[in-house]
Amino acid sequence: MSLNDKHITILGIETSCDETAAAVVIDGRDVRSSVVASQTDLHQKYGGVVPEIASRAHIENIYPVISEALGRAHVGPDEIDAIAIANQPGLTIALVVGVTAAKTLSFAWGKPLIAINHLHAHLQSALLGEEQLELPAVALVVSGGHTSLYDCQSPLELTRLGATTDDAAGEAFDKVATILRLPYPGGPSIEKAARSGNPKAIRFPRSMLGRESLDFSFSGLKTAVLYHCRGQDMKGADRVAEMSAQEIADIAASFQAAVIDVLVKKTKRAADRIGARTVLLGGGVAANSPLRDALQRACEKNRPPLRLLVAPKQYCTDNAVMVASLAFHKYRAGLFADLALEPSATG
Ligand code: KG4
Ligand code: ZN
Repeated sequence: MSLNDKHITILGIETSCDETAAAVVIDGRDVRSSVVASQTDLHQKYGGVVPEIASRAHIENIYPVISEALGRAHVGPDEIDAIAIANQPGLTIALVVGVTAAKTLSFAWGKPLIAINHLHAHLQSALLGEEQLELPAVALVVSGGHTSLYDCQSPLELTRLGATTDDAAGEAFDKVATILRLPYPGGPSIEKAARSGNPKAIRFPRSMLGRESLDFSFSGLKTAVLYHCRGQDMKGADRVAEMSAQEIADIAASFQAAVIDVLVKKTKRAADRIGARTVLLGGGVAANSPLRDALQRACEKNRPPLRLLVAPKQYCTDNAVMVASLAFHKYRAGLFADLALEPSATG
């Protein structure tokens, strides 16, 4: 049997932020199991992820999550062809838990180790159902820690075109939710509140950073929401507690509209720049329905129309399916890591 005929079974592991996840995926797209232990309840009262708490929870969860993923997939260590781990970017003390577990299993089971970039894996989620990627393709990753545009030549070849200069889109959602006293994580709360709001109620700023720029900046927008609630000099009382549900909904909808406007315009700008035929969208914020819809409309309106590939909603936020799926391409390319693999906060 040649390598191309043999089915490749990969165990993926993900611990870059506040989700402990493991998955078994065959040939990059046949998902046999996906287990995600979320820590939302642990971080909720802090309004954001506390790295030490995340790390400790990963240590407790990692082996139960891995063994549940293997159990649900009905595979034992012998049937695994490789172990894939997202080793960058993320919180170092969270990443190190997954990296250590993956290296230990690689050594104990005698299976190759594959290192995966978490952001590239987010984009792989958009390719899960795809046979062929029509090039050139522009890819947008919108997560809690990153907002990045890439020129994607293949799942393994991504050249960064632009990135956030301050807050990431997801971070802005989380911070604005805190300002509006909406529950953590902020993205889903803002989306929910915005459903009954008027996106044109308040004209929040859209930072484009110049006519040519493919970088992003969302901290000015976040500050504009804060000023709106506390007054320009920040000396006014925090009015949020007294605001009506409609007022909160209008702020949420207007903020969300501003984020979406910028994301769609910059993606279109990047697509024009590289003459793209396809647009890929992934990352936690890609779960946002108004964003998915607005990008779809923009792609349809483009001449010639662009094909939009979006990650299925359950694979937008952190998971290990995307890790195991991207690792299949690295396996076929013979790109393996060794036991000296380290976590890296950047990437
Ligand atoms: O990719 P992800 O799960 O973790 C990181 O790699 O950071 O993204 C998490 C981010 C959070 O900021 C969360 O608020 C945001 O994705 N998010 C959303 C939605 N669901 C999650 N943002 C907007 N709308 C949503 N429905
Ligand atoms: Zn992520």
